[in-house]
Amino acid sequence: MKKYLAHIRGHYQELGFEEFFATLEAENIQYSIEKKDNQILLFNTKQNPVKAAKRCAFLHSILKMISIGNVEKDKLELQQFISLPEIKDDKTFAVRIKKIGKKVIEQDLPDLEREIGGFVYNNYRTQNLKVNLKNPDYLFFGILIGRRLYFGLEVWVLNHSEYESREPRNRPFFRPGSMKTEFARAIVNLSRIKQNEMFYDPFCGGGGFLIEAATLGANVLGSELDKFAVYGCNQNMKFYKNTYCSIIRSDSRHLPIKEADAIATDPPYAIQSSTHGENVNSLIYDFLIESRTILKKDCYLVFSSPAKHESELLAEKAGYSIQKILDTRLHKSLTRRIIVLK
Ligand SMILES: C[S@@+](CC[C@H](N)C(=O)[O-])C[C@H]1O[C@@H](n2cnc3c(N)ncnc32)[C@H](O)[C@@H]1O
Repeated sequence: MKKYLAHIRGHYQELGFEEFFATLEAENIQYSIEKKDNQILLFNTKQNPVKAAKRCAFLHSILKMISIGNVEKDKLELQQFISLPEIKDDKTFAVRIKKIGKKVIEQDLPDLEREIGGFVYNNYRTQNLKVNLKNPDYLFFGILIGRRLYFGLEVWVLNHSEYESREPRNRPFFRPGSMKTEFARAIVNLSRIKQNEMFYDPFCGGGGFLIEAATLGANVLGSELDKFAVYGCNQNMKFYKNTYCSIIRSDSRHLPIKEADAIATDPPYAIQSSTHGENVNSLIYDFLIESRTILKKDCYLVFSSPAKHESELLAEKAGYSIQKILDTRLHKSLTRRIIVLK
């Protein structure tokens, strides 16, 4: 068993935790949780969690734990120092510390970084490590919460720019109402889709969810009532070179497929996207009923809705069991609710 720390991004923490749990499940990674605190998850696993972390949009980084300590008034007390076998000879390193929450320690963070740098240097003395603050081979990272210091080797960190090229405004076909890519990715992750499985979005619009699922290696199918959107979605899928996909013009109340391993979707609520004259509640309810005929047993359906709409009540009425409700406040007048169903 090895101990890791997942550092969740500051905004939308609950979504970040749930997204990471979902990807661990999707990648069949067994783990046990030691501690869940403000933005951190300390967990043990025999497997490599980076495969799951890489999929996540709301995870900041993964540390392989070296030590946990306390920063007292005039000294730093680290528990055992785990020597990691991956640290090779004659490489360079840096130490960085991030404080979460209020600063309660007396020391300045750069002083603490230097002190820990000394520990690292001494513990890997035979490896002859050199300091390089700009471009180190190894980044040792400390997370300070109150006086508690979690310290480890950074083994994965989020690359924000990866999402940038797939933002709605950068796609050939763009419509207002398309979700930011990081949210689309998180929702797709919550559906636990795996590589080569069949992912389905029945209100696919320009294909934001399909692009993310295809990027994860799923086979994707989208359907959409509006023929202009079907054309645009195809353009987008070609642009991102997603070949294992089909986009069909169809009403989500009469689904054009027999089986799906996961469904994730962003239905219209007649705010930014049209319901084509239908009553919102009956459209969502009829879709939910229909979706149960194609979703495989024990598989997930995830959809978003304005929180005030309380769409989870329709899901329960349609016979789904609610796994999670995640509210993400986007601005003063809109909280997006993400509903995870089985
Ligand atoms: C919020 S948008 C989806 C946005 C999409 N996730 C994206 O990335 O562009 C909802 C879509 O549902 C479509 N729609 C509305 N009524 C529908 C129905 N009965 N069946 C299928 N699609 C429908 C709308 O045309 C719209 O494109």
